[in-house]
Amino acid sequence: MICKVGWIAVWVVLSVATQLPVAADETANRPLVIAHRGASGYLPEHTLEAYAMAYAQGSDYLEPDLVMSKDGHFLCLHDRHLETTTNVEEVFPDRKREDGRWYAADLTLEEIKQLSVHERMDSRFPKGAASFEVATLEELIELVQGLNQTTGREVGIYPELKAPAWHRAQGLPMEEAFLEIMTRYGYEGEEALVFVQCFEAEALQRLRHELGSELPQVMLMSDNARGAQLVTPEGLDAVAEFAEGIGPNKRLVDRNPDLVRDAHARGLVVHPWTFRVEAPGDGYASMDEELAHFFFEYGVDGVFTDFPDRAVAVIQRGAP
Ligand code: G3P
Ligand code: CA
Repeated sequence: MICKVGWIAVWVVLSVATQLPVAADETANRPLVIAHRGASGYLPEHTLEAYAMAYAQGSDYLEPDLVMSKDGHFLCLHDRHLETTTNVEEVFPDRKREDGRWYAADLTLEEIKQLSVHERMDSRFPKGAASFEVATLEELIELVQGLNQTTGREVGIYPELKAPAWHRAQGLPMEEAFLEIMTRYGYEGEEALVFVQCFEAEALQRLRHELGSELPQVMLMSDNARGAQLVTPEGLDAVAEFAEGIGPNKRLVDRNPDLVRDAHARGLVVHPWTFRVEAPGDGYASMDEELAHFFFEYGVDGVFTDFPDRAVAVIQRGAP
């Protein structure tokens, strides 16, 4: 087993040794590199180790997806259910629902901390080669804020509220509790180093119009009928009422080359997802080529990527 503090130290030392992070004045006007689930191309997603590596690779923002535990803690997890990326089936064999799935909302944080996290994809970090645990939102924030203090950089967080309507139906409303944590850690106002993202417009509208949040918000858009409606001029007009940006599936940008211009005309930044070495989009020979096209041809304002180091390198190389 490799201890957690050891992993974090390794990656921070590596960053200094390789001079990967760039100086603040070099990052002023460049597109944002958003570490998708941390540096999830290299380490199991959403672990503190993956976030520390992403920080060390020069990311501007670290992305936690958020679901809730039974006792109301925010967990850095992509899925509401636990069996895809943890050993919950072994530890709590009797806690599955009738649909055969183990939900984070059915376990307390103390129980979830007994689980071991493993890689989602077979082609990435080898399962069982090291030990990782489920991280909480507070743990991620404390890691980022601590590293910001020790490095002098200003890296932000880019939390996604996963399925707020479903959580509310489980008796776990997310929005109020989420804002309480943000405020407690000093994330307030429109200048905060935060983007709050969600696929559900209702949650973003509640945060902005009912709860008075001024934190920057991003409306996520899938490559489906709903996404196709949202990228229309009318759809963007509606989004601009409660958000400062859009987070479209990258295929929506490829298919709608005017989308970046149309979003910018409404004051919306554009942060498409997800750029992965293993899955460049149709027509691109590599992820690097794809990233260069999005940065220098489409003019996006940032990208979500599992490989933050590669995105930083593409930006530093400049237009081909
Ligand atoms: O939040 C942007 C992107 O991550 C949305 O997709 O499924 O990876 O959360 P997902
Ligand atoms: Ca996400």
